Amino acid sequence: MSVWSKHQIFEKNSFILLIGILVMVSIGGLVEIAPLFYLKSTIEKTEGMRPYTPLELAGREIYVREGCYTCHSQMIRPMRDELERYGHFSLAAESMYDHPFQWGSKRTGPDLARVGGKYSDAWHVEHLENPRSLVPASIMPGYPFLTETPLDTRDIGNLLKANVIVGVPYTEAQLDAANMDIRAQAMPDTDAAYEFEERWPNAIVRDFDGNPVQVSEMDALVAYLQMLGTLVDFSIYDDKANLR
Ligand code: HEC
Repeated sequence: MSVWSKHQIFEKNSFILLIGILVMVSIGGLVEIAPLFYLKSTIEKTEGMRPYTPLELAGREIYVREGCYTCHSQMIRPMRDELERYGHFSLAAESMYDHPFQWGSKRTGPDLARVGGKYSDAWHVEHLENPRSLVPASIMPGYPFLTETPLDTRDIGNLLKANVIVGVPYTEAQLDAANMDIRAQAMPDTDAAYEFEERWPNAIVRDFDGNPVQVSEMDALVAYLQMLGTLVDFSIYDDKANLR
């Protein structure tokens, strides 16, 4: 009997073929899955990443509430056209504090993973209030009510605590001061802002919506947009990989 005729046992008996398939698939599965159980984390440690400040986190909540993710992704793929348009491809670490993540699956508008710092605050305010005043052909809806709506800050402490439960490393000091810090980040040159800067050394303090009288939902959303993709210094990585 040649090797090939022995194989007939599998070909002629579907039950034995099924057992054979199961054995092969489980070996393949084990090789892929088992090593993951021995890794502490599958996310590479990346310098510069920090959890969202209370104001940014509140802005992120508004981003989710308004469904911005239905038109915008936050995930730059490692392909040449994307790298040229948006910048360095997204790293796993960059969404490690996102619960839930905002990678998105639809790009009616552009990817926003690195939109931070691309425009001024005033541009964002104007664009969010009335996109067509800046981009005449835009089909993005306007959100003019964000400027008038005072930011609801009552639940921010609990929101931070909920994030701690799922693994975001907020410090005790950051948790205790969440209710003050959510306003302080939008009130530059105040005592509260100086204290905020001590707890959040690499966050931006600015009057994001340009209205010093009130901390609005616009302040929170623009604070969030302006930090997206700005935490990791990619000049280090780009030199190494020569990606851009
Ligand atoms: C119906 C789809 C849609 C929704 C919903 C939407 N956008 Fe857009 N967005 C677009 C389109 C299309 C553009 C490109 C034209 C423009 O700049 O207005 C855009 C552009 C942008 C830009 C400029 C990006 C760049 O790199 O030039 C930002 C920032 C932005 N949107 C933020 C938001 C935010 C924040 C929300 C939620 C409050 C939102 N969008 C909701 C469709 C949408």
